Amino acid sequence: MNILIMGLGYVGVTTGLVFAELGWKVTGYDPDRQKVESLSQGALTFYEPGLDTLLDKHLAAGNIRFTAKPGIAIRENRVIFLCVGTPSNEDGSANLQYIRQAAENIGKLMREYKLIAVKSTVPVETNQKLAQWIQAAQPSPVSFDLVSNPEFLREGSALQDALHPDRIIIGGHNSLAIKQMKALYAQLNSPYFITEPKTAELIKYASNAFLATKISYVNELARLCDKIGVNISDVTEGMGMDRRIGHHFLKAGIGYGGSCFPKDIHALLHMASEYETSLSILEQVNQVNQTQIPHFIGIWEHKLSSFFGKKVAILGISFKPETDDIREAPSIAIMKTLLDKEAELKVHDPIAKLPAGMQSERLQQVNTLEEAVYGCDAVILCSEWEQYRAADWARLKTLMSGCTVFDGRNVLDGNRMAELGYFYHGTGNH
Ligand code: UDX
Repeated sequence: MNILIMGLGYVGVTTGLVFAELGWKVTGYDPDRQKVESLSQGALTFYEPGLDTLLDKHLAAGNIRFTAKPGIAIRENRVIFLCVGTPSNEDGSANLQYIRQAAENIGKLMREYKLIAVKSTVPVETNQKLAQWIQAAQPSPVSFDLVSNPEFLREGSALQDALHPDRIIIGGHNSLAIKQMKALYAQLNSPYFITEPKTAELIKYASNAFLATKISYVNELARLCDKIGVNISDVTEGMGMDRRIGHHFLKAGIGYGGSCFPKDIHALLHMASEYETSLSILEQVNQVNQTQIPHFIGIWEHKLSSFFGKKVAILGISFKPETDDIREAPSIAIMKTLLDKEAELKVHDPIAKLPAGMQSERLQQVNTLEEAVYGCDAVILCSEWEQYRAADWARLKTLMSGCTVFDGRNVLDGNRMAELGYFYHGTGNH
């Protein structure tokens, strides 16, 4: 079975390369010619560990190719994975325009049977709409199957997640189509959960929302820990030893960001309201996340007396380590507020760049950690890159004017930092 990936963003490129790695012939389609050209030359359009090597390998072996022409791509491939984006509308609902465009292209250009799998995160009952859009675009009826096959990979560990998924969810009505889907993943040693499409669609949102709930719960608990004088990391370690709770996604910090959690929570809340019900817990999850940055800026400002004229090093721009993605990154909101408060910022990230539109004479991105901390009154750590954990903090202190470190991700050892003479503040460790 030849596979077509429609949409060469983060999920599309990773999925395509993983299928190439599993031995399938893959074509990647995207209307963006520049993206197609770049990928055809072996250059990824985003940073993700391990994907560049896989891209070189499978381009050289002829297992993957990229095109901006949908006609041949749709006709030559029996299986189509939809990996297009579903950004947020202003009201928080998922924008399905790219899904609809893909469906209309498929309907218009298909000449024989297709198995279409939806990896994009889409609201419940989108599969039904897709079927209608495809049929409406067909010049004459041609059969196809639609399945929902949500993706759970994380940026920064996408390859590992896609090659070793905890589960493969397939939502479909036709047992033959489900059998074909299983054949595509046969080499992965992962359990399947087979269900109907709208359940599969909801599983994706429900999973992301649950993970975000864990984070907001711990972040709110961290505020209590600060008042009581206990360390949130000790509390979560003790909690996580209960196998029913587990250790994952219990790290307190300045809040969750990225292209999925904030968007998906808004979409799920919108979906609930459309079905005339509510998800009040999720409203609170969102509220805690939105107040997390103002909460910490208030504490930091109090500790420094004021940000006015203070030189501050911001470490980590990306929303998490091992990615250059800055969508909904807490660092951006922090920098904007600090600039409003007339601080001077020197910013460092191992890979990510400041957004093009974010300019100020009091904002400068530098290339090294040393340059960032040189002469600064305080450091704010926004994402937990290993480089920051492993840094020589004794030496860095000799470069700083002040000695305050605000650790927004609880990366550093507070006792060790205090021994080195720092005025160290983590999150939820008083
Ligand atoms: C998430 C889901 O994990 C993944 O399954 C889905 O496919 C896409 O959305 P991603 O956004 O790439 O993946 O990153 P993730 O590792 O989940 O982190 C999201 C945010 O939560 C980051 O800002 C991270 O810093 C934050 N986070 C995560 C915490 O604050 N504490 C934690 O314990 C874990």
